Amino acid sequence: MAFKIGLLGLGTVGTGTAEIILDPAGRNPLLKEIEIKQAGVKSLGKPRSVNPGVITSDLEGIVTDPEIDIVVELLGGLEPARSLILKAIDRGKHIVTANKAVIARHGDEIYTAANKAGVYVLLEAAVGGGIPIIKPLKQSLGVNRLKSVIGIVNGTTNYILTKMAAVGADFDNVLAEAQKLGYAEADPTADVDGWDAADKIAILAAIAFGGRIKREDIPCEGIRQINATDISYADKLGFVIKLLAIAQTNNNSQDDTLQVRVHPTLVPKDHPLASINDVYNAILVEGEPLGQVMFFGPGAGAGATASAVVSDILNIVGILKSSGKTRNLDPLLSCSHQHFATLTPLEEIETRFYARFLCKDIPGVIGHLGTSFGAHHVSLESVVQIGFQGELAEIVVVTHDVKEGNFRQALAEIRTLEAIDSIPSILRVL
Ligand code: HSE
Repeated sequence: MAFKIGLLGLGTVGTGTAEIILDPAGRNPLLKEIEIKQAGVKSLGKPRSVNPGVITSDLEGIVTDPEIDIVVELLGGLEPARSLILKAIDRGKHIVTANKAVIARHGDEIYTAANKAGVYVLLEAAVGGGIPIIKPLKQSLGVNRLKSVIGIVNGTTNYILTKMAAVGADFDNVLAEAQKLGYAEADPTADVDGWDAADKIAILAAIAFGGRIKREDIPCEGIRQINATDISYADKLGFVIKLLAIAQTNNNSQDDTLQVRVHPTLVPKDHPLASINDVYNAILVEGEPLGQVMFFGPGAGAGATASAVVSDILNIVGILKSSGKTRNLDPLLSCSHQHFATLTPLEEIETRFYARFLCKDIPGVIGHLGTSFGAHHVSLESVVQIGFQGELAEIVVVTHDVKEGNFRQALAEIRTLEAIDSIPSILRVL
């Protein structure tokens, strides 16, 4: 008996998924037991690599087809994906999805419905494309007391930052080139403003730290403000700039809030994430007693993402084969969260900072900066004055770990100093 799947979407990842299922030779033998019963598309006219007989524009018909065991949602976006997933769950179908946006924003509703209906919602492809990270976090690393999950999880921004560093170019020029080459979308907002990375870290944090995450509470800064000057200073100081998605516990054992944030970050050149370049993704997980483990690979693309989609389909097929259509969900594959995690307020987070000041080149400026920082308990790791912008001297400061609130208060005071012209850049340091 074949296990019947319904594909919602035959775009890049949908086509890659169909290609793996239709060409099982040399792959896991369970693939031969999967049949694409229907594949739903928005427009019927285009040539497709699957049997035209299974293609339909009736997406509702797929999620209500009584013969379909697993609905594979590869439409992306919030609607109609959310409604179709909920309807499929209501009809007792298992779900495989690559849709990080719908899970990050509506995961609570979707997993509550899935647990009630006794069906799985698997999402390996939603984070890191072809990199296995969801199942390792849930299963292989699940016995560790996890401390941090830090990822470069957006290929577009990693490509842009890598190119900016390599050629010394500013953001706008590299974005335009990336769009011409097809590496960045015509509307790059979700990638360059960090929203895609925030969706992904919301999902990883929920799995790693066992509490749902309110996506809208995640502080999120993108890379539009990064420029060649800061990349060059970072380089001189021993750092590269990466867009990091961070989820970590606080060092203080009394504080059970969780830090979840996305922002460009100065990463020391000898850190494992510093050498992840171009469109690649990597996720560094640290836990006790394991220590550090890093997952690295292609974070997007038809074949890589389809590999993760089909591995989820296989997981469900394996369960259905061994136990029939059971309503007792395997807790290592289903969602067991009952509550939302409390996120640490940004001003309470302790991190190092990099700040670049433009100021008059007069005696005492560095002293004034030091006094203001000191008054707000901000300890400095280094202060350098290397360049000029016209008449103005450029001073770059790197702090030790400080509370973000204290650092911001010091900056507010510094902005009022007579000798300070402006503070063009403020970045966090890993
Ligand atoms: N837009 C994403 C990226 C790929 O640039 O990494 C899909 O998650």
